Amino acid sequence: MKTKQVFVAGGMPSITYVDRLAQNLEKSLRSEIREGYKVICVTGPTKSGKTVLTRHTLGPERSALVNGGQVEDSDEFWNLLLQDLNLPESETHDGSTEDTIGYRYLVTAQRKASEGEALTFNNRNKKTLLTYLREKDLALVVDDFHYMPEKVQREVIRSLKSEIFEGLCAILIAVPHRAFDAIGVEREMEGRFAHVEIPSWNKGELVEIPKKGFRALNVDVPHETQDVFSEEANGSPLLMQRFCGRLCDHYDIEETQSQSKTFNPSDETLKEIFEVVAKQFGLPTFQKLAKGPQSRAKRLDRMLLNSERSMDIYEAVLAAVANTGPKDKIHYNEIRDELRKILVETDLPQKHEVSSALGHMSGIAKDEIDGEPVVEWADDHLYLTDPFLMFYMRWNQRTLNQASGVNKG
Ligand SMILES: Nc1ncnc2c1ncn2[C@@H]1O[C@H](COP(=O)(O)OP(=O)(O)OP(=O)(O)O)[C@@H](O)[C@H]1O
Ligand SMILES: [Mg+2]
Repeated sequence: MKTKQVFVAGGMPSITYVDRLAQNLEKSLRSEIREGYKVICVTGPTKSGKTVLTRHTLGPERSALVNGGQVEDSDEFWNLLLQDLNLPESETHDGSTEDTIGYRYLVTAQRKASEGEALTFNNRNKKTLLTYLREKDLALVVDDFHYMPEKVQREVIRSLKSEIFEGLCAILIAVPHRAFDAIGVEREMEGRFAHVEIPSWNKGELVEIPKKGFRALNVDVPHETQDVFSEEANGSPLLMQRFCGRLCDHYDIEETQSQSKTFNPSDETLKEIFEVVAKQFGLPTFQKLAKGPQSRAKRLDRMLLNSERSMDIYEAVLAAVANTGPKDKIHYNEIRDELRKILVETDLPQKHEVSSALGHMSGIAKDEIDGEPVVEWADDHLYLTDPFLMFYMRWNQRTLNQASGVNKG
């Protein structure tokens, strides 16, 4: 067994799939699907396992999938759905003539679509498609539903309505703060919505990933290391998968070992792994925040203590935030205290300047960064919500202005 099939960071894990039994996620989702006659919203923070849970619960054969991220207009949605159906060419029919006509239409349409013809859809064709799903007992899954333009979301929900009434199962996957846009746009669907919410991962659940994976590779890694990993993963199974994969890479473990091997990575090795992974995941978000809003006026350069270097206010505030840990909730006073340790006194920003910079960052987080807002500034508190951003700041920013090396804690 290859290591990359064991620790799957970004795809569908099988050996290291964790069912999180205590959370009852699969069970709730399965019950809602069985019950039917509703739109099921699966929500959870970015990379919390929404897609993995839905796919695992449904199995490969039982759904038709549209990826909301690829949809810009309504026809595109229906085209993608049609293409995902994979209609068997030579199916025999014992159904009514109406069924047969619908089926023939679908086969022809799918062939045209695969030849690159852009199809347009009317209510009748849409209904044919949805009826086919319902009759074949296929769930319609729209992943990243929140990426679709609101107009398309509304149109899709509206088209689903009558088929839901007949028993079609539709699953919409979205990030929490956008989950109920769908209900908002079509009030009448209320009462026919179910919500399965994915909570963030605890350490006990995260540590199942290295346990299962290292066992499969016949590799022994001390509990202490696995605990450090679950601490650092900060609620993210994706980070955990990547740490484990990197550790294997460090020891050149490409596949299951014929004889059991034991590794005991040093703090230095772990630090290297964390720094590399931090760059892979949190850097782009950090850079967007650090750049601040576009403005024509040149920002003031603020000199660092004991150094020839300077930073603008966005960089300095983020460095101060990083030096708190970073924590997930930080009061202004803590940021001010950290700024005092970073900048020369004459260049310290005033409270209103810090507040304004953090307000702009909140705006950037809302408008320019996909998914849940990664930072929010409200009532003199800064809230950090993104495990990847926090992880990046922890390993690649926190020590920027500290003479000593990285200490954990
Ligand atoms: N149940 C699980 N067991 C083990 N690893 C998991 C599990 N769920 C998720 N992961 C890990 O996290 C990664 C991200 O999961 P997934 O793509 O399902 O998240 P998501 O919530 O759909 O993310 P996005 O918000 O980007 O759509 C997976 O590729 C896998 O590495
Ligand atoms: Mg997903």
